[in-house]
Amino acid sequence: MEVAVLPDLETIGRIGASRIVQVLADNPAATIGLATGSSPLPVYENLVEQYRAGRVSFAAAQAYCLDEYVGLPNDHPESYSNVISRVFTSQVDFRPGAVHAPDGLAPDLVAAAAEYDAQIHAAGGADIQLLGIGVDGHIGFNEPGGSLSSRTHLGFLAEQTRRDNARFFGGDIDQVPTACLTQGLGTIMEAHALVLVATGENKAEAVRGMIEGPVSAYCPASILQFHNNVTVLLDEAAAAGLKMRHEYQATWDGFRRLEQENYV
Ligand code: F6R
Repeated sequence: MEVAVLPDLETIGRIGASRIVQVLADNPAATIGLATGSSPLPVYENLVEQYRAGRVSFAAAQAYCLDEYVGLPNDHPESYSNVISRVFTSQVDFRPGAVHAPDGLAPDLVAAAAEYDAQIHAAGGADIQLLGIGVDGHIGFNEPGGSLSSRTHLGFLAEQTRRDNARFFGGDIDQVPTACLTQGLGTIMEAHALVLVATGENKAEAVRGMIEGPVSAYCPASILQFHNNVTVLLDEAAAAGLKMRHEYQATWDGFRRLEQENYV
């Protein structure tokens, strides 16, 4: 993993967005995996700015969301389809029908999950996948204890996750859905490149488990240790538990120097 500890959200947004812009420069028809929640917002803000400045276009791209709550009506402001549209996709030039999300209202949720997984697989996996991480180490909504090779599936939110997400539902945990459709860890691992953003002290333990802990279903994000193209963008608070922080920084700085000198 490449791990960067960055001074502020603006820098996190700029570097995260630059990875996506580079993928689109290489292949304008790239498939981009999108995460919802607070963590990726600085990346989306930067991408919208770059789009408005004419530096990037999504007109030929496809996007696949990571997950969706089960049972929220189509017009619910917190359904992940609506959130991603509001914070990002409707502000840039994706073509109608190019942004895909699991159908949390499907009459057969298990079949809908399998179909969504097949679509992503047929697209060759995401060229680049943006991720956040939950306080309990989840990515997507793959909660602790699940299979490390799962495919897109019907899952259930951990109590901790429902408590954390209550902030989007007027602080009322009872309004937070209990079930979700989520890309599985096996599906996420098929992405060619992954960019994970984590900020704030409440993420420090999960970040440490992901990067330095044993690979274990106790911290689902730790599976990313087996992926060969992961960039983790952290603020100081989220990096606070890392034991080898200085080594990661030295590697990060070393690569940036070589990039500036056009060696990589
Ligand atoms: C969202 C998702 C989740 C979030 C995680 C962190 O699509 O898949 O894994 O990334 O719950 O959420 P925030 O960023 O709101 O702390």
